[in-house]
Amino acid sequence: MHYVPSISRYSSMIYNYSGRSGLKLPAISLGLWHNFGHVDSFANAREMVLAAFDAGITHFDLANNYGPPPGSAEENFGKIISGDLKHYRDEIVISTKAGYKMWDGPYGDWGSRKYLLSSLDQSLKRMGVEYVDIFYSHRPDPETPLEETMGALAHAIRQGKAFYAGISNYKPDQTADAAKILRQLGTPCVIHQPKYSMFERWVENGLLDVLDKEGIGLIAFSPLAQGLLTDRYLKGIPEGSRASKAHGFLKKQDITPEKLQQIEKLNELAAKRGQTLAQMAIAWLLKDKRVTSVLIGASSVQQLLSNLKALEKLDFTSFELDEIENILKM
Ligand SMILES: NC(=O)c1ccc[n+]([C@@H]2O[C@H](COP(=O)([O-])OP(=O)(O)OC[C@H]3O[C@@H](n4cnc5c(N)ncnc54)[C@H](OP(=O)(O)O)[C@@H]3O)[C@@H](O)[C@H]2O)c1
Repeated sequence: MHYVPSISRYSSMIYNYSGRSGLKLPAISLGLWHNFGHVDSFANAREMVLAAFDAGITHFDLANNYGPPPGSAEENFGKIISGDLKHYRDEIVISTKAGYKMWDGPYGDWGSRKYLLSSLDQSLKRMGVEYVDIFYSHRPDPETPLEETMGALAHAIRQGKAFYAGISNYKPDQTADAAKILRQLGTPCVIHQPKYSMFERWVENGLLDVLDKEGIGLIAFSPLAQGLLTDRYLKGIPEGSRASKAHGFLKKQDITPEKLQQIEKLNELAAKRGQTLAQMAIAWLLKDKRVTSVLIGASSVQQLLSNLKALEKLDFTSFELDEIENILKM
């Protein structure tokens, strides 16, 4: 069916500047890591992307290897971008990454200039776009000089194949070094993409401070701990859930009795706030003004729309914050 975007799509979303750059991102962005590959339903993937755009989600996050098979999420997203969203490219921020294994041999992994620039060309072809808005180094490479990896990002920007540079999974000191190099090259780092949720708080030990000092935005990935911070697993492992799938990155053994006890308690607290646990988990991340965007995943339009309601209640009382800390210490 012919798609016409909602005319009210910019009325309820919040947009935050990414660090001290001029790039605004929606407070909630959509990631295409799971549920957008060739193994998944294209109709469902399309519906989710269009529902997101209708709700003011202007930012879609990809990587070369998302699928499965690797590359297929970019292919599917490309179909949507060149089809339904053809006239809206300038209203959309697309990111992609290279850093994990994509192809065999010495040039299809990690952080060399050879890998990053070839991979970006492949991503652009798969998506059928002339440029991406953000190109990330997906992870630090201990063997390649940081100057080379950052130089590749800067080169992609000068070529016009990417508009902004980003890094993902870099530790605080690596981030400070990368920021310095990119600034010297005239292509500042605008965003860092780390894993961050109530269950995964390593960024609080130094990274948030570095980002603040360097003027780099933070986009938090796996904010719902891949579905743990929702009501998904409260009554077992449902058929079709990420933990039930062989190719899913959430493993059954990650759902421990201790985690489930915490999830139960957090779920009760969320209900007292008049929210779902997923909504509370998203709001909890956005309470820190250094967090530019929360990068959620979804397997249905229903999940996506429900999660967006997090924006209706972002404030926490100090009692609620203490309560969360107590539960997380259990
Ligand atoms: N830079 C990196 O290294 C890196 C690594 C990982 C991810 N990422 C990015 O971050 C994005 C998000 O990661 P993620 O998918 O792990 O995020 P997440 O938001 O923590 O988890 C998403 C999953 O949670 C479940 N879920 C979401 N809303 C729900 C709801 N309302 N009720 C019940 N279950 C719900 C769904 O699982 P079901 O499928 O079970 O329904 C969904 O697929 C990725 O797409 C990717 O763009 C980046």
